[in-house]
Amino acid sequence: MSRIPPAAVDKARASNIEAPRAVLFDAYGTLFDVYSVGLLAEQLFPGHGQALSVLWRDKQIEYTRLVTTSNHGAHYQPFWALTRAALVYAIKRIVAPVQAAGAGDLFDTQIERLLNQYRSLSAFPENKDVLSALKARGIPTGILSNGDPAMLQLAVKSAGLAGLLDHVISVDPIRKYKTHPDAYALGEQATGLAARQIAFVSCNAWDALAATWYGYQTLWVNRYHLPFEELGTQPTRTGASLRDVLNFFPTSSL
Ligand code: LAC
Repeated sequence: MSRIPPAAVDKARASNIEAPRAVLFDAYGTLFDVYSVGLLAEQLFPGHGQALSVLWRDKQIEYTRLVTTSNHGAHYQPFWALTRAALVYAIKRIVAPVQAAGAGDLFDTQIERLLNQYRSLSAFPENKDVLSALKARGIPTGILSNGDPAMLQLAVKSAGLAGLLDHVISVDPIRKYKTHPDAYALGEQATGLAARQIAFVSCNAWDALAATWYGYQTLWVNRYHLPFEELGTQPTRTGASLRDVLNFFPTSSL
């Protein structure tokens, strides 16, 4: 079987679609680099940093789904609360069985240090150039994230992206997390555009998939060389960095 390069597939698929009129980005892992959290986890819990940060992330997303799909949202908690709960779970599961906590604290110090790191993540190095290039073309940009407004505000500020984003959209007001369609609808409401006129960019394969299902043009930024979800739908485009969003705009250059 001949292998068609992903870029050729993207080009063919994208050629029938009008160029997007706005670009929305996922936040955690897409604009903000969560890698530093793994490094700190390894410093605090040598030998467990990677497992801890992977379980923390997976549990955080699992909790968003649990509270969105159960009991008509009655158990909703903001993303910061779920992030903390997921970290406590991951520590109890991975570290507590093999390492005793300091006297009187149940890893409270380490929990606070990791949460502090998560609060003010750095941006990926290419973000500012890409956001500036989109701005120069007059393309509105924004974040569409599960993060709650306070978290997002702080993350945007610490990453120095404040002046480069037209919209910072949190799902918190509707108390439903992505991948609920009402969460993706917030992007249309904020921009006044239909999903097919918007490019949605995420590093998370599940997020890129669900946004594609919703109707967005999508870019999956596969920073970590992972397989895409095996559910029969592909994102509009796949790239290796945020820069690939500029491929939606044929004449764009940095
Ligand atoms: C977000 C998480 C899912 O920002 O990355 O929505």
